[in-house]
Amino acid sequence: MKLPSSVQIVEVGPRDGLQNQAKILPAAVKIDFIDRLSATGLSVIEATAFVSPKWIPQLADHAEVFAGIHKKSGVRYPVLVPNVKGMQVAMAAGVTDIAVFSAASETFSQKNTNCSIAESLARIAEIMILAKQHNIRVRGYISCVVGCPFEGAIAPGVVAPLVEKLLDLGCHEISLGDTIGVGTPKTVRVLLDAICKKIPVEKLAVHFHDTYGQALVNIYVALEHGIRVIDSSVAGLGGCPYAPGASGNVATEDVLYLLQGLGIETGVDLKKLVEAGRFVCEQLGQQVASKVSLALGG
Ligand code: HMG
Ligand code: MG
Repeated sequence: MKLPSSVQIVEVGPRDGLQNQAKILPAAVKIDFIDRLSATGLSVIEATAFVSPKWIPQLADHAEVFAGIHKKSGVRYPVLVPNVKGMQVAMAAGVTDIAVFSAASETFSQKNTNCSIAESLARIAEIMILAKQHNIRVRGYISCVVGCPFEGAIAPGVVAPLVEKLLDLGCHEISLGDTIGVGTPKTVRVLLDAICKKIPVEKLAVHFHDTYGQALVNIYVALEHGIRVIDSSVAGLGGCPYAPGASGNVATEDVLYLLQGLGIETGVDLKKLVEAGRFVCEQLGQQVASKVSLALGG
């Protein structure tokens, strides 16, 4: 299959990357981080999450961060929203793009959002009413598409109906989350074969955590399926506090190096991205988890 000529990277570092850190960064540092990311040419940066601060204290400053970022023209700054309460606060902060989330595993849904999959879809339907009234663009996530930390392997047939449901509710795009990074080219191929039979590829994105070092090769499988939207997190930051064993997302620097090597356009400047990743890791007091960033030294 012919690979796409261009790909949109959805940078999730400020949200997925920071939601699981032991060190909570001040809002001003998060704002600086996001502004550095928007200077790299990234066109979508997930900025924060309007989730409960009791569940994710790392992002309790969501409104302050969203208000403080210098919104660059042409850049979208979606935020994660779990329920109507979060939607109301997000709307008051002036968001124009949100992301909602459900899961392919009942147990993960309970642990992550204290509700069943069906209840999460009902919450999303309520959020959608407000989104439509206020012309807010909504992306959908499905977590645990390949495996769940509590239930093990997820049957591929479970995911396509959820994708269809989220699209019917009004999501413009669905990101398929390998939350704990257990997918391999074989399981990811079987999953994408099943989904792509039913869903137009333009509606799909992939979101790989890199726990077992399989993310890049899984992304290649997604590219072979014609998928043109890839989520990643600069410096490989990330993890989900409600998914034991989940490590960081695939590093954006590494994804960019792969795409550049394949001749696929992204519009993102690798050098500036590496600098943004090093900046946030310095602030967090941790190593950059990107092979490309480390190889480039400096
Ligand atoms: P709950 O405790 O069942 O909620 O949490 P509740 O409705 O019973 O409310 C309890 C308290 O929280 C109340 O306050 C509410 O007002 C408040 P109290 O009366 O006790 O003072 N509350 C809120 N406060 C602020 N913002 C809100 C909000 N909602 C309620 N939005 C809830 C249910 C969904 C809120 C909670 O479970 C939650 O916030 N979960 C989010 C967990 C999370 O963020 N996980 C990580 C993101 S998902 C992920 O990482 C996967 C992804 O990357 C894809 C992949 O990798 O697969 C997307
Ligand atoms: Mg994630």
